[in-house]
Amino acid sequence: MAHTAVKIRTPRTSSKSWDAVARWYSGWAGPNGSRYHRRLAIPALLELLAPGRGERVLDLGSGHGVLAPHLAQRGVLVTGVDLSPRLISIARRLHGHFARFIVADVTRLESLNVLSAAAFDAATFLLSIQDIDPLEGALKSAAWALRTGGRLVIVMTHPCFRVPRQSGWGWDEKRALRFRRVDRYLSRLAVPMQPYDGRRRGATRSYHRPLEAYVEGLAANGLVIDAIRELPAAELEAGPHARGFRTAACREIPLFMGLRAVKR
Ligand SMILES: C[S@@+](CC[C@H](N)C(=O)[O-])C[C@H]1O[C@@H](n2cnc3c(N)ncnc32)[C@H](O)[C@@H]1O
Repeated sequence: MAHTAVKIRTPRTSSKSWDAVARWYSGWAGPNGSRYHRRLAIPALLELLAPGRGERVLDLGSGHGVLAPHLAQRGVLVTGVDLSPRLISIARRLHGHFARFIVADVTRLESLNVLSAAAFDAATFLLSIQDIDPLEGALKSAAWALRTGGRLVIVMTHPCFRVPRQSGWGWDEKRALRFRRVDRYLSRLAVPMQPYDGRRRGATRSYHRPLEAYVEGLAANGLVIDAIRELPAAELEAGPHARGFRTAACREIPLFMGLRAVKR
């Protein structure tokens, strides 16, 4: 997603369907996910999840289903859930032989009667939790769907360093180094996003919350964090001042964060 200087709203919103950008998003990411998915996010998710054959995994905010083939190849029974009927229709077309896909709001699964409580061994949010609002409803739904001892794995852009439109790279001439600037962090934000084709400004929102919101939200639903991964972009982000940039972006300042929590 490209970030442009438009008004930032503080939350009291709820998720919007990604229907307006479904074609753009599925085309940009491709059937198997973008290079960010393939090189960083999906490998981290699989490592944290360590899925076993025959396990039932619920992919929350599945989009057009890029995770499904990776799980199905490991013998997992996958259910993908997304609010966007268009993305679910693309998921069924591309990956319907790997998974079942359901249109539903993952912030209120309990009240929707589309799935059963405690029916899953694991649940995932792959680059989706920051597009879902309210966070508390999403975490409550995940906990509701998991059996006791089930795992929840979240992979997201790092909330401490990658605040949409409120963080960025800077170059310190004197010290000849690349630094990461963070303008706002503790405030929750609802940021209208613009896809690269530029035609659907504000069609979707990204929701920034500080790390404590995730940790507290998980704990409130009996989900205990037992693993965390902080992933730099490797060579995926390019830019000027390449040498200083490589140290900052490839080794020191993470792009993604992965969390695993276990249901008590
Ligand atoms: C950035 S996309 C990620 C999709 C997919 N996980 C991937 O990695 O390609 C975020 C997804 O979250 C979905 N989403 C947002 N709010 C939702 C909600 N309340 N319930 C279900 N899905 C939601 C959007 O429709 C969109 O498909």
